[in-house]
Amino acid sequence: MLNFATVGTGWITESFIQAAHLSKQLKLHGVYSRSFDKGKQLADAHQARAVYTDIEEMAQEQEIDVVYIASPNSVHFEQALLFLKNNKHVICEKPIFSNLKELEIAYQTAEEHGVYLFEAIRNIHTPNFQILKEQLHRAGKIRSTILPYIQYSSRYDLFLQGEEPNIFSAKYSGGALADLGVYPTYLAAGLFGKPNKVSYHPVILRSGVDGSGTLVLEYNDFVCTVLCSKISHSDLPCEIHGEKGTFQLEDAAPISKITFIDSHTKDAQVLSVELEEENMMYECMNIADIITAKNDLQYEELKNLSKIVLGITEEARKQNNIIFVSEK
Ligand SMILES: NC(=O)c1ccc[n+]([C@@H]2O[C@H](COP(=O)([O-])OP(=O)(O)OC[C@H]3O[C@@H](n4cnc5c(N)ncnc54)[C@H](OP(=O)(O)O)[C@@H]3O)[C@@H](O)[C@H]2O)c1
Repeated sequence: MLNFATVGTGWITESFIQAAHLSKQLKLHGVYSRSFDKGKQLADAHQARAVYTDIEEMAQEQEIDVVYIASPNSVHFEQALLFLKNNKHVICEKPIFSNLKELEIAYQTAEEHGVYLFEAIRNIHTPNFQILKEQLHRAGKIRSTILPYIQYSSRYDLFLQGEEPNIFSAKYSGGALADLGVYPTYLAAGLFGKPNKVSYHPVILRSGVDGSGTLVLEYNDFVCTVLCSKISHSDLPCEIHGEKGTFQLEDAAPISKITFIDSHTKDAQVLSVELEEENMMYECMNIADIITAKNDLQYEELKNLSKIVLGITEEARKQNNIIFVSEK
């Protein structure tokens, strides 16, 4: 059993703690919050032993093996580096960092300290992603792919009222591609690898980041189109079109349902399994397994995916002059 601690007290931290508990491989030791009251509330709800308001103190705690970071995007790098330097494995929420330079430094630091650094991205850890990878050959030659993640954010209401929630802010490395676009981009990277060419066509908000956008990833024989938005809504499924058949995914994350439709017979077959409600459980289990077994091979695969995805989103931003404050 690995002892873990958390950073950030949003709903996603609560979800991760529940998923970790279900994985039976991660035990909550403590929580960090800038506010003692918020930390205490979270700790009490999940029987954590410790509440920290001093992040350095938590980083030095010998009993903690792993730290889960769910702070605003722009804060990830500094916090991850602190824990890695104190020999803690780090599971950092998506998008892991603002750019590849930060990612390279952090991986280097992890290696020097004999620990691992993971991006918390739920879709590629689900059993349905494995099913998709294994069955993809049934589509024949892939000819086009459309991967939407279009979800209206309640925080956009605040933005429209003149506020600047972190997720719509360049100061906190926000935007639709960084927030939602990473899920379909991970699917593309996990299934097809690094694209030959990237182009991004965003809708830029007054804060300077993208509220929505269309990302075009060019591969040898086909184009993959990622649609992402936090300022509109769609139930459009993801589709992968091959010469022999089409895969339809109910969603880009967590990949709830996969149907394969034969191009000739039009027969539809459901290939997916029913996911656990707390589907972050799969990422907890995979990550805990990698740490426990020191599975460098799988770790390198995940590292490579994080690098491809962050490389794509950084390139997409740069093409459109979407510059995060930490990069100015
Ligand atoms: N995997 C998923 O499905 C999923 C879902 C939602 C979010 N996320 C990711 O999780 C992360 C957190 O998202 P969120 O929406 O919860 O973010 P958020 O509300 O902006 O902040 C999360 C927490 O970070 C702390 N915090 C806020 N501002 C801070 C600052 N300036 N410096 C240091 N700490 C600060 C706060 O905790 P304290 O006040 O207690 O310190 C807050 O509860 C993001 O990276 C996001 O992309 C992932």
